[in-house]
Amino acid sequence: MNYTRIEISQDQLSRQSDIMERVADINARLETRPLALVDTYGCQQNEADSEKIRGMLKKMGYEMTRDEYEADVIVINTCAVREHAEQRVLGNVGALSHTKKAKPSQIICLCGCMMQEPGMADRIKNSYRHVRVVFGPHELWRFPEFLLRQLQGGKRIFETSPSDGCVTEGLPSARDSAVKAWLPVMYGCNNFCSYCIVPYVRGRERSRRAEDVLREAEELVRAGYKDITLLGQNVNSYGKDLPDGMDFSDLIAGINAIPGDFLIRFMTSHPKDAGEKLFSTMAKCDKCARHIHLPFQSGSNRVLSAMNRRYTRESYLDLIGMARSHMPDIVITSDVIVGFPGETEEEFEDTLKLVEDVKFDALFTFIFSPRTGTPAAGMPDPFTRMEKQRRFDALVALQNRISEEKHRSYIGSTTRVLIDGEEKEYLTSRTSGGRLVRLRADKSLVGTFQTVRITDSNTWALFGEIV
Ligand code: SAM
Ligand code: SF4
Ligand code: F3S
Repeated sequence: MNYTRIEISQDQLSRQSDIMERVADINARLETRPLALVDTYGCQQNEADSEKIRGMLKKMGYEMTRDEYEADVIVINTCAVREHAEQRVLGNVGALSHTKKAKPSQIICLCGCMMQEPGMADRIKNSYRHVRVVFGPHELWRFPEFLLRQLQGGKRIFETSPSDGCVTEGLPSARDSAVKAWLPVMYGCNNFCSYCIVPYVRGRERSRRAEDVLREAEELVRAGYKDITLLGQNVNSYGKDLPDGMDFSDLIAGINAIPGDFLIRFMTSHPKDAGEKLFSTMAKCDKCARHIHLPFQSGSNRVLSAMNRRYTRESYLDLIGMARSHMPDIVITSDVIVGFPGETEEEFEDTLKLVEDVKFDALFTFIFSPRTGTPAAGMPDPFTRMEKQRRFDALVALQNRISEEKHRSYIGSTTRVLIDGEEKEYLTSRTSGGRLVRLRADKSLVGTFQTVRITDSNTWALFGEIV
C-alpha cells in the first residue's frame, strides 16, 4: 500500500503548546473557571482521542462538566461505523441549538470519524449553523488553534480534508480512569473489509514507534495503572511500516518486561494476521490477559469472501484451536454481522453453527448497516429488515444461552480479579479473561488485585466474594 508516514513535528506541537498557554491566560482572566463538555461515540480509539481532547482542554484552563447548558465549550467526538450511531449524533447536535440559544457564547465543536465522511462537513455547515468548529481525526492535534480562533471571534472552521493520517506524540491526556488506560499503538486500517467505513475515515495503517509505546507504558505503570489496553484496528499489523522489524508480539513481550503488577490487554486482532507467534507470546507473558477478541463476522465462506476478510471458516476454527492449545483457559470474544447483502438463510445458519462450535464467551452482534462509499453498500440486498431482525434475535438468543452456561461453570471456582470501579451497591472487577465480577467490598479496594470465589452468575456477569 502506497503511503508516506507523516509525523507531526516538535515545532508544530510546540506551536500548539504555546496556543494552549495563550488560551489558559485568556481563561485565567475570567471571573469563574470556564467549563467544557466532551461527549464520545464509537470505539476505544475514540475514547482515547477524547481523553486527549480533555487533556488539551484542561491545559487551557477548562474544568469538565456534564451539563450542556452551562458548558462554554462542547466537543462531540463522533463515530461513522453504523447509521444508527450517526443518527444519534445528528439528533443530539440538533438539540444543542437550544443550549447555544441560551448561552450564545457557547462554542460547539464536532470531530471524529463522521466528520471525515464526504459531504458531512457541508451538511453540518448548511443545516447545523450553531456548530462553530468541525475537524476530522487527522486534525485532532490542532484543536487548541481552532479553539483560540473561535475565542478571538473568528469564522466557523471546517478542517476535514482527505488524508492518510499522521502520528502525533506528546499530546496531554486526561484519562477517565485511574486504574485502566488506553494505549494506542497504531492508527488507521488497510484492510478495506467491504462493509466498513473505518479505512476511509481513519486513513492508512501507521504504527507508533516502539520506544514511544514502551515509554508511555512505563509511565502508566509508574502512575499506578493496573490494566493497559493496547489499541489498533488490527494490532497484528503493528510495526509493518516501521524500519526496526519489531512486530506486535515483540511489543507485548517488551511491555511484559516492565517491572510491576499489571495486565496487558489488546484489541482488535484480525484473524488473517493472528497466529502461532502471537499465541505463544501471550502464553509466555505472565502479564498478558488470557483474553482475545477475534472478530469472525460470518460463518459462511462465500460471505467472508464478499466481505473481503481474507480467511475462511476453516482457518478461523484452526486459529481458535491454536489459541486454546496454547492457553486452555483463554476467554474468546468476537464480532459478527447479520444480514450482509445477499446472506441466505443457509449462510446465516453457518454463522449459528460456528457460534455453537466455538462457544464464545461473549459476542458483539450487529445488523449490517450500508455505509456510503463502501463496496457492500452497492451490493444487491434482497432480505427485509424484519428478516434480518429475526436472524439477529436468534443469534443473540443462542449466544445468551452459551454465555449463561459458560458463566455458570465459574461458580465455586476462585480467580484473581482487578477491582476497577463501583456500580450501585457493587464494586466491579474483571478477571484476566475480562469477565465482569460484581462484589460487595469496601471501595478503598478499587485499583487492587484480589482473589475471589465465584458464588453466582447470570448471562452478563459473575458474582463473587473476596477470599
Ligand atoms: N477492526 C476491527 C476488526 O476488524 O475486527 C473492527 C472495528 S469495527 C469499528 C467494529 C465492528 O463493527 C466490526 O468488527 C464489525 O462487526 C462492525 N461493523 C463494521 N462496519 C459495519 C457495518 N457497516 N454494519 C454493521 N456492522 C459493522
Ligand atoms: Fe473495518 Fe475491517 Fe479495518 Fe476492522 S479490519 S476496521 S472491520 S476494514
Ligand atoms: Fe467508529 Fe471511528 Fe471507531 S467509525 S468505531 S469511532 S474508528
